[in-house]
Amino acid sequence: MAYAAFRSIGAYVPQKVLTNNDLAEMVDTSDEWIYKRTGIKERRIAAKEEKTSDMGTKAAELAIERSGVPREDIDLVVCGTISPDYFNMPATATIISNNLGLNSPMAFDMSAACTGFIYSLSIAKAFVESGMKKNVLVVGAEKLSAITDFTDRGTCILFGDGAGAAVISATENKEEAIIDIHTAADGAYADLLMTPNGGSGSQHDALESEAAGCYMQMKGNETFKIAVRTLTKDVKEILAHNNIESDSIKHFVPHQANLRIIKAVGDALKMKKEQVVLTVEKYGNTSGASIPMAINDIYEKGELKAGELMLLDAFGGGLTWGSALVPFSPLKK
Ligand code: ACO
Repeated sequence: MAYAAFRSIGAYVPQKVLTNNDLAEMVDTSDEWIYKRTGIKERRIAAKEEKTSDMGTKAAELAIERSGVPREDIDLVVCGTISPDYFNMPATATIISNNLGLNSPMAFDMSAACTGFIYSLSIAKAFVESGMKKNVLVVGAEKLSAITDFTDRGTCILFGDGAGAAVISATENKEEAIIDIHTAADGAYADLLMTPNGGSGSQHDALESEAAGCYMQMKGNETFKIAVRTLTKDVKEILAHNNIESDSIKHFVPHQANLRIIKAVGDALKMKKEQVVLTVEKYGNTSGASIPMAINDIYEKGELKAGELMLLDAFGGGLTWGSALVPFSPLKK
């Protein structure tokens, strides 16, 4: 049987920094409020002409180069995003694939909001384990600034832009394999986080749909409470199901939405400070890109070594959530 190994990581962040003080000049908020309630100090904002696919391509270039997998051998590209270059079609994954000069692999986008990377990883694992594909490029890329209402202080303080990517490939060595991935959704809470216009559920006609309803709307406080409850249960379950104690986790890499959510889940798992990977202060919430960007952060600091076990978790619009137990298994040691 083939197993799926997490071979490499790459990321890209845009140049422009938007600080809390910059936002305080745009809406009624303050650096103190944002930092205390979210742990965010600043976030990156893509240039006007910079698309989600451009950022995803840059992250993927690095991930492919670091993987040692020849690019012509990539046979599937999955891009987790809720801010695609174009709504409906073409998929951002196909544009990334073309930018990279890949060999016409299957390519599609995954819409699972902040859980986009974990959902995409589970697709990669399933395709590799079934033998249908051998080398999967998993991208999480977001230009959330394009779908953010910068007059709404309840959302605009949270989000940022960026991209991350990983190469997952087949191995016969079980020691290298992704151990387990949990994925779930509950559409009963669909209205907590949505972009109401632009789709077939839109209450506006096509010409009007450029209006504010194309931006993200969120019931933040309700989402917060469900996130803490659901994530705590989910990560406890994935650890128990695989007989793994939380002190065997070298790197706990949560979705970077809010420091208070991360702390609540980390405390419930009795995680030590040095186990928890944090980038929320400098990048904010980059939805589907946040987990691979955080993994890349520890990789580039030299803190992620071959064989070390990561626990990933995420929660987002849908509502969707998931967790994954992933050893880092580079080909190049
Ligand atoms: N600056 C100052 N005051 C503010 C701001 C702001 N930016 N935003 C809200 N407030 C005010 C509110 O108006 C409210 O005032 P009131 O008490 O007078 O009515 C007060 O602050 C408290 O508001 P809450 O919404 O209860 O604040 P909360 O502590 O819940 O923090 C936040 C808000 C940061 C949005 C939090 O709820 C959160 O992080 N939610 C979860 C987000 C999340 O994880 N989403 C899922 C992933 S995102 C995705 O999938 C794309």
